[in-house]
Amino acid sequence: MNIQLKFNASAHSSDELVILPSFSKGKGDKATLVDSDWTKELRSTFKTIKSAGTFKGAKGSSFQFTTTEGLSVLIIGLGEKSDYDYEALRRATAGIAKKISSSNEKVSIMIDGFVVKNKIEESMQAFAEAFYMTTYHFDKYLSKKNKPKLKTLFVESSQKTTALKKAQAAFDHGQKVAECVNVGRDFVNEPPNVLNSVTYAKEIEKDVKANLKGVKVKILGKAELKKEKMNMFLSVNNGSAHDARLVHLEYTPKKTTKKTKHIALVGKGLTFDTGGYSLKPGGSMMNMKFDMAGSATVYAAFRAAVLLSLDVKVSCFLGMTDNAVNEHATMPDSIVTARNGKTVEILNTDAEGRLVLGDVLSYASDLKPDAIIDAATLTGACLVALGTEVCAVLGNDKKLTDSLLSAAKETDEYMWPLPIIEEWRDDMKGSMSDLKNIGGSSFGGTAKAAAFLENFVGEGVSWAHLDIAGVGDSQKHLPYCPSKGASGIIVRSLVRFLANQK
Ligand code: BES
Ligand code: ZN
Ligand code: ZN
Repeated sequence: MNIQLKFNASAHSSDELVILPSFSKGKGDKATLVDSDWTKELRSTFKTIKSAGTFKGAKGSSFQFTTTEGLSVLIIGLGEKSDYDYEALRRATAGIAKKISSSNEKVSIMIDGFVVKNKIEESMQAFAEAFYMTTYHFDKYLSKKNKPKLKTLFVESSQKTTALKKAQAAFDHGQKVAECVNVGRDFVNEPPNVLNSVTYAKEIEKDVKANLKGVKVKILGKAELKKEKMNMFLSVNNGSAHDARLVHLEYTPKKTTKKTKHIALVGKGLTFDTGGYSLKPGGSMMNMKFDMAGSATVYAAFRAAVLLSLDVKVSCFLGMTDNAVNEHATMPDSIVTARNGKTVEILNTDAEGRLVLGDVLSYASDLKPDAIIDAATLTGACLVALGTEVCAVLGNDKKLTDSLLSAAKETDEYMWPLPIIEEWRDDMKGSMSDLKNIGGSSFGGTAKAAAFLENFVGEGVSWAHLDIAGVGDSQKHLPYCPSKGASGIIVRSLVRFLANQK
């Protein structure tokens, strides 16, 4: 699928289908259609169509007709202009992408009327993001693949060709971000009989070598993790047929100064979570291949930072293992000593993500980055607190969590803060060990997990934790996400956060 930007376009490049925007003014029966960028001829043809009378440009609606010259025209309803924003553009783009990818080979879209508040570049970026995020399909294991019909989409504008360069750059930016989102989605959708800690680490290394020039890769295996005294992490790996892996990636921008920020990203990479001895019931175990979505999310953001040559140093740490049961699996009541020397009583082997992350956070802290951000499908409690649509953010530095919240707002992703209070810190303290891995009650589970993680962040290091248990997959309300499977949500927030670090 090829998308071509055409500025100062005098005629449509496609003689098959042309897409145009429309808005709506007023509500209910009083609603009227506001056309946008339509030619005189089109307007008069439209008026002669009887059924067109009911089309008022409502958000999510569309109307298709054929002109006397035989050109198909698809009018997209964008709703009230005053409500129209980048997210509305993304959602409209998703609708368009779904409609045209299986119906036509060549399509022209008149983009000017779709531009939000005259911001052509930002709009181009949002359009590209949404288009490529929508046309993603995980069909690797389908014997019959649905090949899209669409070959070329011409994005046409009446703007001068001098504006093309910047618009193209913004479009390319959006495309790169979406591609990274899709790389992350591919990892998450891969089944656990294919993707385990060993194959996952290899695939990441392969992708880095092939696509991310200049990035340093270090992979720690079981022996190195033992040397690092990551006993919490290793305790999760005890019951597995595959050795744990810690992937450490480093990106340094070409020009660095004293002001260049260093951000560490940490991701939970549980290639499958059975719960271990504290076994999950069958229904809850289903889909636990997605328990590595945190690692895929931070990798996707890291990948985008490199491809966009962002002006920030980024270290990325992916803690990989599954949580399985064999005769070596960790038994509940076990007490282990974490990398930072704290002792932890493992009362529930299903609260395993925090054990992996704790040791990796301690490892990442040694680099003394300006901030550490971890992402993890950490708690079912997050779905209770914020539903499946909102990502939780917690941490030890309000400035950091605020800047993540801003980045999420700027990219129209839902993120909301939760507190870590003293009582919850106390609840995570053990009686026979410094800490225990679950609280006394399951209430406030997301924040108690964060209260546990906080213990492993180095002294004076800013840290934020993103619980993506709800948003990691099946975002049915977002038309640019697959209704089933990996969502790639939060990658765009992280990329924006990294871009904001200059
Ligand atoms: N990976 C799960 C969290 C999860 C559950 C994500 C459901 C998405 C949907 C995590 O490892 C886990 O099992 N957490 C336990 C913690 C509990 C034992 C304190 C949970 O949430 O039930
Ligand atoms: Zn678990
Ligand atoms: Zn888990």
